[in-house]
Amino acid sequence: MKVIIIYASRGGVSKKCAEILRDKISSSFDVSVFDIENAPPSPDSFDIVVIGGSVRMSRINKKLKKYLREHAQTLNKKQTALFLCCGFPEYFDTYVAKQIPKSIIPSLGIHCFGGELKPKNLKGFDKIIVKMLREEIKGADFESYDALHSPLPEIVPENIYRLSDKMRKLL
Ligand SMILES: Cc1cc2nc3c(=O)[nH]c(=O)nc-3n(C[C@H](O)[C@H](O)[C@H](O)COP(=O)(O)O)c2cc1C
Repeated sequence: MKVIIIYASRGGVSKKCAEILRDKISSSFDVSVFDIENAPPSPDSFDIVVIGGSVRMSRINKKLKKYLREHAQTLNKKQTALFLCCGFPEYFDTYVAKQIPKSIIPSLGIHCFGGELKPKNLKGFDKIIVKMLREEIKGADFESYDALHSPLPEIVPENIYRLSDKMRKLL
C-alpha cells in the first residue's frame, strides 16, 4: 500500500514527527514524505494519506489548509489521518474545531503528536515567542496552574505509534 505523509513545519518538530511515523511503518508500506512548501502531489495515487503540521498563533499553516480544502473530496474517500503539533496540547480540541476544514472527515482520525518549545532550534521572531511561551509555562502561578502536571511540552511518540498501529490494521 502506498502512503503519503505531508507536513508543515517551521522549526522542524512536525517534520520530526512525520519521520518518526515514516520509520515506524516503512517496513510494511511504500512511504513518501513531503514538505507542504515543496508542492506535494495530489493524494489520488496513494492509499493512505497523513497530513499535519504545527499550530502557530492558534492557526495551522495556510498552504496546509488550502491543500486540505482542495483535496477534501478525495481525502474523504481515502484512508486519511490528520495530525497537529502544538505547544499547548490542552487546546488541541479547539485547534481542531477552528482550524480543520469541516469538509474533511478523516477516517483514521485527527491526532495530537505533542510539540516542543525549544528556542535553540529557532531564529528571530520564533525564538522570542518560544522563549515567552516557555516563561509563561514555567512561571505559571501554582495556585491556578499545576506546574507539576504541566511540564514543557514534548513530542508524544505513543500517539504516533497509535496511528501506525491503526494503519497496520489496514494491511
Ligand atoms: C511563533 C510561534 C507561535 C506559536 N503559537 C502557538 C499556539 O498558538 N498554540 C500552541 O499550542 N503552540 C504554539 N506554538 C508552539 C508550536 O506549536 C510548537 O513549538 C511546535 O512544536 C512547532 O512545530 P514546528 O517546529 O513543526 O513548527 C507556537 C510556536 C511559535 C514559534
